[in-house]
Amino acid sequence: MATTTPSSTSDATGGGSPRRGLGVDIGGSGIKAAPVDLDAGSFAADRVRIPTPQPATAANIAPVVSTAVNSFPDYRGPVGITFPAVVQHGITRTAANVDKSWIGTDAEGVFSDALGRRVLVVNDADAAGLAEARFGAARDVKGVVVVTTLGTGIGSALIVDGTLVPNTEFGHLEVDGHDAEKRAADSARERQDLSWEQWAKRLQRYYKHLEDLLWPDLIVVGGGVSKKHEKFLPLLDLRSPIVPAKLRNDAGIIGAAALAAEQR
Ligand code: BGC
Repeated sequence: MATTTPSSTSDATGGGSPRRGLGVDIGGSGIKAAPVDLDAGSFAADRVRIPTPQPATAANIAPVVSTAVNSFPDYRGPVGITFPAVVQHGITRTAANVDKSWIGTDAEGVFSDALGRRVLVVNDADAAGLAEARFGAARDVKGVVVVTTLGTGIGSALIVDGTLVPNTEFGHLEVDGHDAEKRAADSARERQDLSWEQWAKRLQRYYKHLEDLLWPDLIVVGGGVSKKHEKFLPLLDLRSPIVPAKLRNDAGIIGAAALAAEQR
C-alpha cells in the first residue's frame, strides 16, 4: 500500500460538505472509533471507547469493532482500522504485543464480514504517521519524515514526500544487542520506573541509530507520552529536527479513516 495526498472534493468556491470517514483504533486496552472530517483531519463527533476483550483474538474483537462502528449509524461508508502489527495487504503478519493467533489472519476479511462493508486494516503507527504528515506535525514537510510512537512498543512510519512506505517496524531495530522497543518504549520507562533522564539516554541511543541509518529531514514523536515531550525531547542531542506529534492519540483513527476513503 502506498498513498499520495488526495485532492479535496469540495468545489472551487470552497463549498460542498466536508468529506467524512470513520476510523477504529484497536489497542491493547481499548477499541476506539470516531467519524472523521477528512478535509479538516479531525474528529467529526466524540469517539467511543470499549475495553479490548481478553483474550484479544479476532473472534472476540470483531463483534466489539462492530458495536463501536454501529454507534455511528449515520455513517455507512468504508472503515479504516488500525492494528498494532505488520499488516500486509489486509493480512496481519506479526504479533509482538498482541495475541499470537493474529499471525497470518485475514484481518480485512474478518472485519469486512463483521461490518458488512469495505474496510482497510493498517498498522497503527503507519496510520498515525500518515495523519501527522497530512494534518499534524509533519504537514508540508518535504523529503524523509520518520514518525515514531512510544507506547507499549515502538511504532514507526516512514513518509517520503507525503507517500507512506508501510510496515517499516523500526521499533525492532537492534540497539546495543537488544530489540529497541524492549528498552526504549514508554512501557520500559514505566516498568523499570526510569527517571526522564535515564529514559532519555535510551532514547538517545535509539534515535541516533535511527537517524544514522535514515538521515531523516524530520523525526516526529507520538504516543501518549508525547504530551510530556518537554521532559525528554530537550535531553536528546540529534542532528535531525525532532518534534512532538500534534494529533497524539487521535492520529491513528484519522489516518486510518483517510486511507480507507482512498482505497480502490
Ligand atoms: C509492533 C508494530 C506496532 C508497534 C506499536 C510493535 O511492537 O511490531 O507493528 O506498530 O508495536 O504498536
